[in-house]
Amino acid sequence: MNQRDAPMNQHDAIQHAVKLLRQGKLVAIPTETVYGLAADAKNESAISKVFAVKGRPETNPLIIHLSDLAAISDWARDIPGEAYQLAESFWPGPLTLILERQPWVSPLITAHQNTVGIRIPNHPVTLELLREFGGGLAAPSANRYRRISPTQKTHVEKELGNEVDYILDGGPSTVGIESTIVYCGQPNILILRQGAITAAQIESLLGKKVILNTEHQSFENLNAENQHSQNQIRTPGQDEEHYAPQKPLYCFESHEFYSVIKKLNQEMKKNQMISVVSFQEKPREFLDQQGIWIKGSENPQEFAKQWYAILHELDKNETDMIVIEMPPRTEAWSALLDRIRRASRTMA
Ligand code: TXA
Ligand code: MG
Repeated sequence: MNQRDAPMNQHDAIQHAVKLLRQGKLVAIPTETVYGLAADAKNESAISKVFAVKGRPETNPLIIHLSDLAAISDWARDIPGEAYQLAESFWPGPLTLILERQPWVSPLITAHQNTVGIRIPNHPVTLELLREFGGGLAAPSANRYRRISPTQKTHVEKELGNEVDYILDGGPSTVGIESTIVYCGQPNILILRQGAITAAQIESLLGKKVILNTEHQSFENLNAENQHSQNQIRTPGQDEEHYAPQKPLYCFESHEFYSVIKKLNQEMKKNQMISVVSFQEKPREFLDQQGIWIKGSENPQEFAKQWYAILHELDKNETDMIVIEMPPRTEAWSALLDRIRRASRTMA
């Protein structure tokens, strides 16, 4: 990447990104969820490079990003009314719709499935980029396969370095975790990946029950009969996505959290450090504990903004182990419970 020659003002930066994308190059783009690694969705060799740079298997499909609802019929067909209702309410925003694909959509994007994932992101820089570009951008999160998603330009720089042709800076992502992925099936609406838009929001808009079709079910009102959907629609990447740091990370319930830390502190060898993410300030009894103590926000939206930055930070310091206090098992925390479990080496 040659950031040195990169133009400084935002309008020029967007023009520069458009030019590179038209040449089949890769540009990291800011979105409200996480940064994406974008390529022209109509350029197969550019799309291949996305898989190569990420080290991602080609069995894991990509989401197409658009700026305008009218353009979805360029990529998808037989779009259900409920999908339009969701799109009209939540786009631009952290929602990805899985729709029947148009026949010409590259099988690289869809991983040879009959469906395509589409999203209109809510970020002014990327919306302007998409409008200027005038087409779709295929973009997975701009991290290497199975690693932590980036929510700031510096995360992308650290992770992808020279392998991305340009990074469009849009500041820190304001949502902080990946979009909710939804498939409007019959009779059921399926959530394939949890995100900022909750099942309750979707249920209240559509007036029908939504099924969580994710690997790690996380909130209590999910009843047993819904756990095994007969539907064939699945999200190939979700089985593999761990969103995990390289340092070992363990999560524990609040009620046992302090006693676990105490025990770990006693067991740690000299010069070994644990870092802690808790919803409490560091208690006095742990003042001599080495390692970082991060107090996470008790507000789930705020915590989501902090989450990947916390993991990036802890992954690069001297920590030997990361220990996390589980948030409450409520719907507001559901997407974060999912991400924390995936980052963790033990299942809480
Ligand atoms: O918030 C987001 O969605 C971010 C930003 C950049 O838009 N993108 C993102 O992309 O998280 P990625 O590639 O890291 O995750 C996309 C997930 C993968 O698990 C993939 O398997 C699933 O979406 N997916 C994509 N197309 C699909 C399809 N046609 N059917 C089922 N799942 C699909
Ligand atoms: Mg990803």
